[in-house]
Amino acid sequence: MINVKERILELKKSKNALILAHYYQNMDIQEIADVVGDSFELATKAKATDADIIVLCGVRFMAESAKILNPDKKVLLPVLSAGCPMADMITADDVRKLRTSYPDAAVVCYINSSAAVKAESDICCTSSSAERIVRSLPQKRIIFIPDQNLGAYVASKVPEKELILFNGYCPIHHKVSISDVNKVKAFYPNMPILVHPECRPEVLEMADMVGSTSQIIDYALNGTGKDYIIGTEVGVVSRLRQLAPYKNFYLLSQGLFCPNMKKTALADVLFSLEQERYVIELTPAEIAGAELSLLRMIDVK
Ligand code: 13P
Ligand code: SF4
Repeated sequence: MINVKERILELKKSKNALILAHYYQNMDIQEIADVVGDSFELATKAKATDADIIVLCGVRFMAESAKILNPDKKVLLPVLSAGCPMADMITADDVRKLRTSYPDAAVVCYINSSAAVKAESDICCTSSSAERIVRSLPQKRIIFIPDQNLGAYVASKVPEKELILFNGYCPIHHKVSISDVNKVKAFYPNMPILVHPECRPEVLEMADMVGSTSQIIDYALNGTGKDYIIGTEVGVVSRLRQLAPYKNFYLLSQGLFCPNMKKTALADVLFSLEQERYVIELTPAEIAGAELSLLRMIDVK
């Protein structure tokens, strides 16, 4: 019987492919990846590679970002239907309309968006860089798209700016409620609660720490405490349990499961490498416009 993992590793070598995986992927995918990271790390690693093929184990906008940063490389998304519902909540036309309503504003676009939306924006951001990016802009007024929760969080951190928010949200993080937090607090009264900024503002207010996927991982690994409640996708809990088996990690709510991120199985990665599918194709105009937004984001230190 063929060993799927071994075959993937063989093909990866013979085709000079790089496998990038987001922390929300299943653990067997994280184990065969060259790099596991959050959205920002995956985008920067994609930019730095000399591989001929990039296999992005994540959702479509992540593979598109890799393609935008490597227009001459073949970028593959193993499961065609792996998308991000939040990214699909806004269109390029919505951005053009917002610009017409607020002509003096800069448009900051969360990386969870399509290439066409990025191309209409001035600069991208990720959850780890959003505050820094907004602060760095000369404009006082900022149109922040598409995540209303991340936008509201940034607005609270950068009060000198006026943020115009769009009404997008992550269906997974947005579902976490005050009652989920109260339940977990009643059960584990003194345990720190770490949450992703895609959660609602009232949930963020009850948390001990707010951060991107990697920031949550770093905090939980490097903190002196032994126990943590994790308010982001369950893949982060699996990763933390593997990296720090001597600590305890509890998921804030059972709803923190992204079905799109969990679509990719090892067999999909194998077929993706064998058949070089599914190739990410973008128009030259999308690539040109979106590349500028992503490169500006990477350049803001
Ligand atoms: P990060 O930017 O923290 O990787 O988050 C990506 C994402 O899709 C969160 O839901
Ligand atoms: Fe999109 Fe939410 Fe899934 Fe992240 S967790 S990929 S924002 S649906």
